[in-house]
Amino acid sequence: MKTGMKIVCANWKLNPPSLKEARSIFDGIKGKASSLKSTQVIICPSPLHLPILRESYRGRKISFGSQDVFWEEKGSFTGEISPLHLRDLKVEYTIIGHSERRRLGEGDEDVVKKVNAALRAERFVILCVGEEKRGNDGAFLSFIARELKTAFENIPLKYRKNIIVAYEPLWAIGKSADEAMNPHQMHQMSLYIRKVLTELFGKKRASDTPILYGGSVEASNAESLIKDGEIDGFLIGHASLVPEEFNSILDIVEKS
Ligand code: PGA
Repeated sequence: MKTGMKIVCANWKLNPPSLKEARSIFDGIKGKASSLKSTQVIICPSPLHLPILRESYRGRKISFGSQDVFWEEKGSFTGEISPLHLRDLKVEYTIIGHSERRRLGEGDEDVVKKVNAALRAERFVILCVGEEKRGNDGAFLSFIARELKTAFENIPLKYRKNIIVAYEPLWAIGKSADEAMNPHQMHQMSLYIRKVLTELFGKKRASDTPILYGGSVEASNAESLIKDGEIDGFLIGHASLVPEEFNSILDIVEKS
């Protein structure tokens, strides 16, 4: 991860249903993604498709990420993904704490252990935070602060450069662009997240930590969000499965 680069991370979730389709989506985006100069593209396919696509890609520009990781490196933990497996397969990034995992029961304590394990294996962590809904009392702000503080409180200095924050309010995920966060709200949120990161990491590291937005990013709202939202890129779900749409977003981010 180079400082100052924009980041666009594709979270394919449990899609598409076949390897053939995964290859075809990847083929549809790799040309554009490899041609960008100031945008780092990270593809997070399903765990079975991940090493296959990783192996098939001979270029160096696109990076790969997993959608989750376990906190132990090895042992009797059926079904889990070891941070060492990610390192071995040159999967540089991992998403941690996505709301869809938290909804399946992942708690803050699991998230902390995963963040630390991934950083020990020298992976880049994309930590997802986001409130379920917003009231008028600003309680969601302390919720976000708590999510960030629990995850990052005890991170050793040397690993802090490997952290990316993805702000994904749950109410904006999986909808359409007009139900997503607006750029003004995003701008405020990004200032707030940076303030919390400053308390944790100090000013310099906080200002170098990329903040992404995720939640119904499409080609139609990407430009205003990236220009006015004070963010460093996006974490994209459904629009990342449609090469034309995703490539348009990449163009917008690259030009911003
Ligand atoms: P979405 O998903 O772009 O489909 O809203 C984003 C995410 O859940 O990471």
